[in-house]
Amino acid sequence: MAVGRSVPWLCALLLLLAAWVDLVLGVAPCDVTEYQPEDSNLCCRLCPAGQYVFKPCRVNHTAGECRVCEPGTFLAFPNGEPTCQRCIQCREGDQEVVAKCSPTSDRQCQCKKGSFYCNSVDCVENCLRCKRCPGVVLSPCNATSNTVCATETDRGRPENKRGSEFLVPWVTVSVILAVAVIVGIYWYKKKGRLVPVSPGEASSAGAQQWTLGAKRSLTGTFSLL
Ligand SMILES: *[C@@H]1O[C@H](CO)[C@@H](O)[C@H](O)[C@H]1NC(C)=O
Ligand SMILES: *[C@@H]1O[C@H](CO)[C@@H](O)[C@H](O)[C@H]1NC(C)=O
Repeated sequence: MAVGRSVPWLCALLLLLAAWVDLVLGVAPCDVTEYQPEDSNLCCRLCPAGQYVFKPCRVNHTAGECRVCEPGTFLAFPNGEPTCQRCIQCREGDQEVVAKCSPTSDRQCQCKKGSFYCNSVDCVENCLRCKRCPGVVLSPCNATSNTVCATETDRGRPENKRGSEFLVPWVTVSVILAVAVIVGIYWYKKKGRLVPVSPGEASSAGAQQWTLGAKRSLTGTFSLL
């Protein structure tokens, strides 16, 4: 409660102090659209953005002489500055210009798109070189973010996927063929057995026999065709 009641008093005291400081230091109570030239008690109107104070005013609350910033310099805000700020230079090697230097705005540089990037305060001095992907690029390098490569597993996937698309029918066909061959062999073997052979020969020469049988049934089939 005591603190709350003392606040207005404190404010008043501070204002009084400020006024006193102004009086002692000779700070003129200039408007926000004005500035006080050094070593004077005058209030001069600010020069507009893009211009600097060539000569301060001599009559209170008037504009002095403002001049447009020289090429390569700028002032972005209304001001009472005696000189303009020099525009920054883009680094030759790793930067490119994205906004020209004008009297009212600074030049803007960014890392050379596609070759360099900068994504933190760590690369203010030098842009970082973009990563090159050994395989698939998920997102290309730009001024503010590095290349995103597909990871080892990701990289293989699209190719594998493509491969498996081809592989699946082949596996299916192979399985069908294998089954057909086995069924065929079984069938021919059965047919081959019909060829009269001695029991001893049956096992050892079985292969030959069913081949013969197969040949016979094949020729039979072909002759039928
Ligand atoms: C200029 O104007 C300000 C504010 O109105 C005043 O405080 C200051 O004394 C004036 N300066 C002169 C030289 O009259
Ligand atoms: C740069 O790339 C990142 C991610 O790929 C994206 O989020 C960002 O918007 C891009 N920036 C520019 C300026 O293109």
